[in-house]
Amino acid sequence: MSKLSVRDKKVIWHPFTQEKTAGTVIAAKKAEGCYIYDEDGKAYLDLISSWWVNLHGHAHPEIARSIYEQAMKLEHVIFAGFTHEPAVALCEELAELLPPSLNRFFFSDNGSTAVEVALKMSYQYWCNQGQGDRKIFLSFEGGYHGDTFGAMSVGHTSKFHDAFKPLFFDVLSIPYPDTWEEDLDVEVKEQRALSSLDKYLDEKGKEIAALILEPLVQGASGMRMCRSSFINQVILRVRAKGILVIFDEVMTGFGRTGTNFALEQIDSKPDFLCLSKGITGGFLPLALTVTTENIYSAFLHDEWKYAFAHGHSYTANPIACAAAVTSLKLLKKTNLDAINNAHKLGMSYLKERLPNIKHTRIIGTISAFEVDLAQKLKPKFLASGLLIRPLGNTIYLLPPYCITAGELNSAYEKMGSIFN
Ligand SMILES: Cc1ncc(COP(=O)(O)O)c(C=O)c1O
Repeated sequence: MSKLSVRDKKVIWHPFTQEKTAGTVIAAKKAEGCYIYDEDGKAYLDLISSWWVNLHGHAHPEIARSIYEQAMKLEHVIFAGFTHEPAVALCEELAELLPPSLNRFFFSDNGSTAVEVALKMSYQYWCNQGQGDRKIFLSFEGGYHGDTFGAMSVGHTSKFHDAFKPLFFDVLSIPYPDTWEEDLDVEVKEQRALSSLDKYLDEKGKEIAALILEPLVQGASGMRMCRSSFINQVILRVRAKGILVIFDEVMTGFGRTGTNFALEQIDSKPDFLCLSKGITGGFLPLALTVTTENIYSAFLHDEWKYAFAHGHSYTANPIACAAAVTSLKLLKKTNLDAINNAHKLGMSYLKERLPNIKHTRIIGTISAFEVDLAQKLKPKFLASGLLIRPLGNTIYLLPPYCITAGELNSAYEKMGSIFN
């Protein structure tokens, strides 16, 4: 039989891929810890946590075991009219890590649906109170929130969805003051963003349903970081107009920014929190949209039409919830500072050797910088056994938390010799 990568080419249509020009894919045969092994046995150090989902390493035995045990007990049950232990346990344990105001949990199964739920809930929240005129959304330029229509609409400036623009609903976008180490213009950029926000609020404040943002780091637009003090000012302004706030922590959640959730680094708490990606430690699809008692109670009514009519076949799948409970237990025991320190060392190593890297930035377990023609380096990284996928000219590292300082150091050293 021919190799898996060759068989794949004949039958599979891959995501985010121009199939005409793409080369053969790598056939992953197995994975363990921070490494993925291809069909020829070559090892790749996973420096992107496999599309930002993996937290504790691949094929983690404790998560694998909880999946097996749950599958033997209860693999699936309709989540309307039924509940189960892993779903309730997961929400109870998450509630301990979240601000007390975020205490109502709505399940779905990926990041886009977590966002879609928040957008729909926020619009219906206003409708249920007779304020259906609030139907504009606010978002940040470059923000990416997923690939369903609502998520694409609020991410309309991300450049990923241009083909669908004629079908989007109304969204106003605020400039994003992305910043980096030794950025001298950060205040000017923030002021420009706030002025643009003020203008929108003056002109359309009463028609805006909600603001959505990726707190502290915009992932897909190139790990673009902003200051928490800026987000505080934004939230103060939108709240003064009664506008709801959605934090899309699909990427930043579960430790990525050095705290369990980025919201811990921001003064005001959101009305909605979208979670997915790392929620099951990277094993199974699952998502949550967490909201407040205030939002929840606006849907309570004797008439059905006030209910939130949204659900998915695999909503709150028990096996995925069991994986998430175990992953959360592991997260509570994880030292995120070790990765942050290794990033700092690695980045100063690169900066000393390579004058051509720009805009270096680190937050928690994420590091990023710009370099010209970064896309051309991707095959070289792979050839050296490093799984790194540049975003435009941004190179970033977002490793699983089980990576050792030694592994991360040697990745920076290898990158240094590739750039030279
Ligand atoms: C911030 C953010 N929101 C939403 C999504 C969409 O998640 P999914 O790919 O699981 O639909 C992503 C995916 O990268 C993301 O980074």
